[in-house]
Amino acid sequence: MTGLPVNSPGEAVWASAAAGLAPEACGRVLVLGGGYTGSRFAAALTALGIATTVSQRQASNPAGPAEAGGPSQLYFDPATGARPSRQDLEGITHVLVTIPPDAAGRDPVLDHLGDLLAELPLQWLGYLSTTGVYGDTGGAWVDESSATVPGLGRSRSRLACERAWRERNLPLQVFRLPAIYGPGRTPFNDLRQGRARLIHKPGQVFCRIHVDDIVGALLHNLARPAAGRPDTLILADAYPCSSSETLGYAAHLLGCKLPELQPYDRIAATMSPMARSFWSENRRVSSALLRQGLGYRLRYPSFREGYRASLSAPDQPAAGAELNGPSGPEASRPLNQER
Ligand SMILES: NC(=O)c1ccc[n+]([C@@H]2O[C@H](COP(=O)([O-])OP(=O)(O)OC[C@H]3O[C@@H](n4cnc5c(N)ncnc54)[C@H](OP(=O)(O)O)[C@@H]3O)[C@@H](O)[C@H]2O)c1
Repeated sequence: MTGLPVNSPGEAVWASAAAGLAPEACGRVLVLGGGYTGSRFAAALTALGIATTVSQRQASNPAGPAEAGGPSQLYFDPATGARPSRQDLEGITHVLVTIPPDAAGRDPVLDHLGDLLAELPLQWLGYLSTTGVYGDTGGAWVDESSATVPGLGRSRSRLACERAWRERNLPLQVFRLPAIYGPGRTPFNDLRQGRARLIHKPGQVFCRIHVDDIVGALLHNLARPAAGRPDTLILADAYPCSSSETLGYAAHLLGCKLPELQPYDRIAATMSPMARSFWSENRRVSSALLRQGLGYRLRYPSFREGYRASLSAPDQPAAGAELNGPSGPEASRPLNQER
């Protein structure tokens, strides 16, 4: 466990999203994958007085025992064979899966914990997926009723994992996410260090969601009666836009110069295949069901509110490092682009 996220909102903030969610009704929550979103969700649950356990991979957890008052930990790492026992999962009533498909495109949780989870008296199993399953729409809007036509290999794997989860007899809710951002996952560090790239591709937009709106929307769903939880729900803000718009605003907030504009067509050949893949799809994802259908009020309706809030939060290099590396394979990836 990396500890409670820096500047993570406390109980008062989550209480409104979780209105109607009685801690005692929740039993114990297991969050599989204590990464960026998983640790933030676990911190919110703990702040609300809900007993929470988070999984970690052994190798990535040099931090030692859980912090006092924070979520408890267990190890789940298929690569080393570390997995919880039935006894470790005693009392678990709710599960959030944040672990992505493995390199072979298989779901590590289903493969290694699926049978164990099926034995639990689960009331809810949330699965974090991606809006990549909708494929390229040339910028057109998609919602939960749209066809899934994944174009990228990783999105096909994701859809296969979603389907494998749906085949299990579990109280499943699939949440489809665009790019996740928040403290430590913003363009600020890249701008400060002069390694941000201002890339323009005409007509191209990206969608995003602030991590605390994922947490808020999950709590909002948990607080609803089971019958009122859609089996598939897009969690996104209300403002798809170009990456040059987000970078421009980030530079404005910092009061720093923007890098020179690079037309996508001119630099595409210099990008890694991974980076190019992020620019190969263009779609707008609608969160109308979340906002209007379920009445969730976004804390960050657009990146502007989210960036302003993130600027006053200390950066968390570990959480954002994978997105911000200057020379890694994803250097030209639009920041926070979904996987
Ligand atoms: N980031 C985005 O922009 C984005 C967009 C759309 C969808 N999503 C999806 O939403 C979910 C949450 O995203 P996130 O950015 O919060 O993810 P994250 O920070 O990368 O956290 C993922 C967690 O899963 C663990 N994990 C990964 N592979 C594992 C495996 N094979 N066995 C056990 N544990 C494993 C990671 O452990 P370690 O810490 O040890 O690596 C980490 O705790 C993920 O499924 C992600 O693919 C993300």
